[in-house]
Amino acid sequence: MNDISLPLLPEQVKIVEVGPRDGLQNEVTPISAQDKIALIEKLSTAGVSYIESGSFVSPKWVPQMATSTEVFQKLNRKAGVTYAALTPNMRGFEGAIAVNADEVAIFGAASESFSQKNINCSIEQSIARFAPIMDAARNAKIKVRGYVSCVLGCPYEGDIAPEQVAKVAEQLYQMGCYEISLGDTIGVGTPANVTKMIQAVSARVPTSKLAVHFHDTYGQALTNIYAALQMGIKVVDSAIAGLGGCPYAKGASGNVATEDVVYMLNGLGINTAIDFERLLEAGWFISEKLGKTPISKVSNAYLAKKCS
Ligand code: HMG
Ligand code: MG
Repeated sequence: MNDISLPLLPEQVKIVEVGPRDGLQNEVTPISAQDKIALIEKLSTAGVSYIESGSFVSPKWVPQMATSTEVFQKLNRKAGVTYAALTPNMRGFEGAIAVNADEVAIFGAASESFSQKNINCSIEQSIARFAPIMDAARNAKIKVRGYVSCVLGCPYEGDIAPEQVAKVAEQLYQMGCYEISLGDTIGVGTPANVTKMIQAVSARVPTSKLAVHFHDTYGQALTNIYAALQMGIKVVDSAIAGLGGCPYAKGASGNVATEDVVYMLNGLGINTAIDFERLLEAGWFISEKLGKTPISKVSNAYLAKKCS
């Protein structure tokens, strides 16, 4: 009997770990800078090569990120690992650069209402705010990643047209972002609209410059990642222990768990260069600090096996 053939999938996938930023930003339990650093160091020890380690936003808007300066200052950095920061404006960019963030990320949205709620300005105004960051980053030789939020739906506007996503993604790409991360902020997507949305964006931005960023609110994230891989996407954002959510997208639960993504990729024979056991330990560490079990079925299955 013939082997069942799998669709064409990439040989390697880069994991962009957003747990210390996207994962923790929505948590009410305060996590000390020391514990955030311990988490980041556990992730780098596990072989995660890109860690979004904090954000330089208003501490009134996102109190959990107020320690980002201290985190970046005291972090023991591992060679070959990128420690990135989220920066909404020049003030954030300057804060990130002052503590040697390796890269920064700017964040726009495909939905006007979400843009207003999240960063207090329209999509057009946000692009204008990002322009000086791009100039300063170019001068400082700092790479800039771009996010587009609400690519498959908005908590305030509902459906979002793929063309609208493509338009904003193209603007960020043309401004100089080296990669555009497509965020299903409220986790409503399914493989059909993921495929349509990536098709629309790929017509304007090369697929090799795209990443996917799925929240798992409706339990569709892994399936959606699988659909994205089939379309040639090779960069996947995820958060350790499935932490996360956006304070400005009510009901948005965590990002897809890094443990679940790596387990699936391992099963597909796709290389991530991540030590799975150490990854699990990083997730158990931060979950204990937060006083909750990981929001990852894979992690909980291994935990149950370990404790039996
Ligand atoms: P604003 O009110 O329009 O700006 O906020 P402002 O310039 O008038 O400043 C307001 C206050 O913030 C002032 O302080 C400033 O000093 C301060 P006050 O006078 O009230 O004491 N401020 C800052 N403080 C620290 N760092 C800064 C900074 N800038 C101003 N960089 C702003 C604009 C963007 C600052 C605000 O709206 C904000 O901080 N928003 C938070 C946005 C955020 O972090 N959202 C969550 C991350 S995005 C996300 O999770 C989605 C993503 O994961 C992808 C996906 O899932 O889709 C990326
Ligand atoms: Mg997010």
